[in-house]
Amino acid sequence: MKRIRLGFANLIIEFTDRYLALKRIEYWANRGTGFPKVVYGPEGCGKTAWLRQSVELLGERGFDVIYLNPIEEEFAIEIGVQSLRDRLINLVREATSRLSWGGVAWSVIDVVREAISLGRGKIAIIIDDAFQAIGLDRAAIYVKGLLGILEHPPRPYERIVTIVATSEGVSRREIGRHEWADLLAMWNMGRDGFRQLYEQVPGDKPPFEEVWKLTGGNPRILERLYENNWNGDAVVRELIDKKGVRAFIASLGPNDRELLIRALEDPDVLMGREGIPLMNRLIELNLALEIPEWRDDNLWIDAPPPERDLELGIGKYVAWQSPLHREAVKRALGMT
Ligand SMILES: Nc1ncnc2c1ncn2[C@@H]1O[C@H](COP(=O)(O)OP(=O)(O)O)[C@@H](O)[C@H]1O
Ligand SMILES: [Mg+2]
Repeated sequence: MKRIRLGFANLIIEFTDRYLALKRIEYWANRGTGFPKVVYGPEGCGKTAWLRQSVELLGERGFDVIYLNPIEEEFAIEIGVQSLRDRLINLVREATSRLSWGGVAWSVIDVVREAISLGRGKIAIIIDDAFQAIGLDRAAIYVKGLLGILEHPPRPYERIVTIVATSEGVSRREIGRHEWADLLAMWNMGRDGFRQLYEQVPGDKPPFEEVWKLTGGNPRILERLYENNWNGDAVVRELIDKKGVRAFIASLGPNDRELLIRALEDPDVLMGREGIPLMNRLIELNLALEIPEWRDDNLWIDAPPPERDLELGIGKYVAWQSPLHREAVKRALGMT
């Protein structure tokens, strides 16, 4: 498989690692997905990178691939038949001029049905960061629309692979309460893979151990650190500012504040009667995530995080998106 090249700050780097996640794509390529697969994980953990590499892989396996990222306003339509490709691209173009990118996501469903009607048998539909554009409240209905393609195709097909990715931890519940999709979690990169990525970053840099402790294997945090000349404080300030952590902290009553301080040490304290409302707010702000309590392969794309790693902020049930996300909260609490 050809490894794709990805933008990384001002660099171009090669797609790295994610061996199991690509194996998973191969598995689906061989048998189709059945239910749409909804993948969620921390912001910047590498969902988009993995999906872009998957477009390449599925293309090599003879799939027509439709990839859409409404947030980054990107799409790729790789279809073996030129006329059909043009037709589909026009459909998407029409949708962009008429509607929002959320509308384009909806039009993909028609595009795929059209492709099946025209006799295309192996199709991959990859919708990246879909729910932000569609609206979280409509996420489940959208997934049901995708399921509808599989269940009521206009014509028999050979194999369809449907993957939807989201960084919105909130959508996990919205999707999970219906039987229309399989939910899978993706975590930050494992140590070995992340080291390979770290090695691709040129110039003077802090030792790997230090970078690992700041990022917990999150490539976006690595990118921000590099962009800020390895100034961790600058990246923490960025996070506090962007996510409105200050206002969030200011809004807390004394009990929640106390609980939040304990959650810095162990995020699992949030998984209790008192902690749930606070946990929900941390999830909404994309600072923490509720994760599957089991580290079984079938619940995860790629390698799961360790059962618990409190140094990195990973609990059994709840995890900080990265150590620097936790640090942002700690700073805003005035604790450093
Ligand atoms: N496996 C990987 N190999 C190389 N670069 C990666 C990998 N995963 C992520 N990156 C880079 O890290 C940054 C964040 O990854 P991205 O895929 O955008 O995260 P997400 O979509 O989960 O928010 C991007 O610059 C991306 O190119
Ligand atoms: Mg992404």
